[in-house]
Amino acid sequence: MRIIIANWKMNLLSKDIDGFCAACVAEYKAKPGVEAGIAPPSIYLKDVKTKLGNCGVKVFAQNAYFEAKGAFTGEIAMAQLKDIGCDGVLLGHSERRHIFGETNAALVKKVKAAREHDLLPVLCIGETLAERDGGKMFEVLREQLAVLKETGPGALVVAYEPVWAIGTGRVATVEQVREVHAFVAEELKRLLGEAGAEVPIQYGGSVTPDNFSELIQVPHVSGGLVGGAALDPAKFLKLVQQAQ
Ligand code: PGA
Repeated sequence: MRIIIANWKMNLLSKDIDGFCAACVAEYKAKPGVEAGIAPPSIYLKDVKTKLGNCGVKVFAQNAYFEAKGAFTGEIAMAQLKDIGCDGVLLGHSERRHIFGETNAALVKKVKAAREHDLLPVLCIGETLAERDGGKMFEVLREQLAVLKETGPGALVVAYEPVWAIGTGRVATVEQVREVHAFVAEELKRLLGEAGAEVPIQYGGSVTPDNFSELIQVPHVSGGLVGGAALDPAKFLKLVQQAQ
């Protein structure tokens, strides 16, 4: 399966959402084997879900908490995401890890909680430039993927997003993507057995329609997690088409 997700991060307002969803309803044509999704800020999830109607584009949260309910001011439960019709949730995005201190230990619980509520978890991994330059890239990625040793197999997408390529306009080269995606695919098999071979591995980091047609051809690249370019519905729909 291939999967393209628009990660809006903390961008856009209601007025922008109307046009974006209308473009999806008018132009998105589902094709077998390729999923498309939008991850808006959580306050717009329900609105986006309603406006997309049954056009086939899925809705993802950008984060959620692992506890079922209770005194956790400011957090959102997986059950609440499911309740409003959400399809999945991004987990461990580098901005969550680096700005908000998300840990691998919390991610184990979050992946499990998402699965318990039938939400597709998208586990984001990626090294910083210092880690890559310092020869620690594989070690860091192995540690981030080790979350899956504790969760075991189940519904899952992995998104490889080198931190230095996110929002910088500096996309990873085809050779860099090839090397890391082959590594991630091997790790997934080692950790999850045969089920590991079924896990889609997205690339993310300065993806645009100009570079994506080449990236999507790289072995073990099965989609994209897209920030900046996916704030524009025309570009998002173009990326989906390229994956199809
Ligand atoms: P970008 O963001 O496409 O703007 O680099 C990707 C992401 O962080 O998911």
